[in-house]
Amino acid sequence: MTSHTEPTGNASKPILVFPGGMPRSLEYLQKCRSEGRAVIGASSLEYDVSREQYPDWAFLPYVTQPGFDEALKQAILKFDIGGIFSPNAVVWDHLNRVLKDVAPGVHLMNDSPVNAELSGYRAARNHASALLNRPLSISADKAIRPPMSEIELAALFRHAELIPGMCDHEKICALCEIARYSATGDIVEIGSWWGKSAFILARLARCYGIGKLLCVDPWTNEGIVSKDANAMVDRAFSQVDAGEALIVFEMNLLPYNSNHVNYLRMLSTDGAKYYREHRRAATPSFGTTDYCGHIAILHIDGNHSYDSAKADIEAWGEFVVDGGWIVFDDYVWPFGDGPQRVSDEFLESNRSRVATAFVMGSALFIQLSTGD
Ligand SMILES: C[S@@+](CC[C@H](N)C(=O)[O-])C[C@H]1O[C@@H](n2cnc3c(N)ncnc32)[C@H](O)[C@@H]1O
Repeated sequence: MTSHTEPTGNASKPILVFPGGMPRSLEYLQKCRSEGRAVIGASSLEYDVSREQYPDWAFLPYVTQPGFDEALKQAILKFDIGGIFSPNAVVWDHLNRVLKDVAPGVHLMNDSPVNAELSGYRAARNHASALLNRPLSISADKAIRPPMSEIELAALFRHAELIPGMCDHEKICALCEIARYSATGDIVEIGSWWGKSAFILARLARCYGIGKLLCVDPWTNEGIVSKDANAMVDRAFSQVDAGEALIVFEMNLLPYNSNHVNYLRMLSTDGAKYYREHRRAATPSFGTTDYCGHIAILHIDGNHSYDSAKADIEAWGEFVVDGGWIVFDDYVWPFGDGPQRVSDEFLESNRSRVATAFVMGSALFIQLSTGD
């Protein structure tokens, strides 16, 4: 099988998309439209509902029928086709074999659909084996828990990849590792947005039996304003809908909830008061979740202004148990130094309590000493 690296085809000629109605075909149609490339849809159905979406259309026999190659040749000549996109594995394989004879110079625009669908899974498996082969040596202390299995870790990487958000690969690896060194207790995340890091924490909570996950986020457009140094972050986020972000969060987390995930739709400071008084979160989507009231892992990823990050650690820091972790997101942040100033001040004033601290990805990871 030949492998393809998205050729441009003859850029001035139209691309034939066949079968035109598959989801990947329609995604490709949008891509061509945004790039201003001409597209012809094609199908073997007498009436294909996707037909209306294409500016031009061709009927082709099924690839299994004897007249297919000749009909394809005629369509290529008629529309002066420069390349073909096919997300159907059987059609793609057939075209990959015959195109050089049927229409020399016309190329497939996409890699093998099987490879394309599997590439994310293969990458996740590679990430899992790399992390298991080279675990972080976090401190002199031994990890409390053995690593999760390679297939569990691969699943975590794969599913994390499918959730949009702001949690880089290095940070995911570090989260996976610190979970093995963590005390038990609640996991609290300040700032969850669409739920990418929350998903990772939910899986780690479950796989390592650490405790339950509580996400605290107001999911309001005012809350996302970070007062970054040159207002670029705020401008970019002024377009987004925070209410929709909560729905996306719920869609991302619900499938992974085993009665151990919930949220407080509040500012972190109000959330801390609520947590102290009730140790409970009740929402229509996740039901009621009771928490133990002390924190094993505190992930601070809310508003990145100095004042907000300072208020976050002041409101929540006291709940973190000995041997627990505090993760300051965006310690290294090109848009401002709020998280870094707050974490450096925390390190300075808690020297005697800090067992280990390191930066990985853009986050700072701090473990409090066990007190032994
Ligand atoms: C950078 S996003 C979080 C990204 C997320 N952790 C991820 O993995 O993609 C920041 C989030 O902090 C929330 N936020 C802003 N101010 C907050 C506050 N005072 N308390 C809690 N969350 C806050 C915002 O609503 C937003 O959802």
